[in-house]
Amino acid sequence: MTADLWREVDAYIVDSLVGADAALDHAQASAEAAGLPRIAVSAAQGKMLHLMAKSIGARRILEIGTLGGYSAIWLARALPESGRLVTLELDAWHAGVARASLAHAGLSAKVEVRVGDANDLLPAIQGPFDFTFIDADKESNAAYFAQALRLSRPGSVIMVDNVVRAGKVIDPDGGPQAAGVRRMFELVRNEPRVSATAVQTVGDKGHDGFLMAVVL
Ligand code: SAH
Ligand code: DHB
Ligand code: MG
Repeated sequence: MTADLWREVDAYIVDSLVGADAALDHAQASAEAAGLPRIAVSAAQGKMLHLMAKSIGARRILEIGTLGGYSAIWLARALPESGRLVTLELDAWHAGVARASLAHAGLSAKVEVRVGDANDLLPAIQGPFDFTFIDADKESNAAYFAQALRLSRPGSVIMVDNVVRAGKVIDPDGGPQAAGVRRMFELVRNEPRVSATAVQTVGDKGHDGFLMAVVL
């Protein structure tokens, strides 16, 4: 019942403020047809990430966890003509779907999809990035946050998806993904170089949340 209401409100938000978009619809349909899990950010969340990146004038964006490129399209569209998004994806099948959808959206020139374990790829990447979106395996969240911080400059924004997980974040026995989120919270808590909060969300994706950190 409650989840239905969350979905109806999300539909109202999308209808009122986000609107339909052929390239994003295509990306969603392609991901579905390719058998990818239906875990992309929602439309309202995608636009929120887009607006955040846009509001800080981001020119270089890093994404960890591409899936079918849905959030990458939102983020790349926040970039100016010369801006670039680097997005990291473990699964070559996912990356292929993402590249096709990004091409269909006319964004191939702005986006580089790199295939591999982000834990292996990140140490060789050079910053600074203005905006980082962490949305891959939750077990690695602390390591990804540390890398995102290394790749940031003062004023950079780091956003992390799925930090509430229907409340599992407060359960010390909530499983390996919740434990990964908790290790990241602990790291952020002890990190004087960032100011951070987390906000719970409900909607198409159930009860979850984002962590936002600004690098000082
Ligand atoms: N950001 C996407 C959703 C990402 S889902 C969107 O909102 O549209 C998480 C993705 O992270 C999956 O495609 C998964 O294959 C990828 N992933 C999982 N472990 C990874 C790792 N170690 N390195 C890079 N990508 C990983
Ligand atoms: C899962 C991963 C995500 O990135 C997400 O937004 C929702 C669910 C998952 O692995 O279950
Ligand atoms: Mg996610």
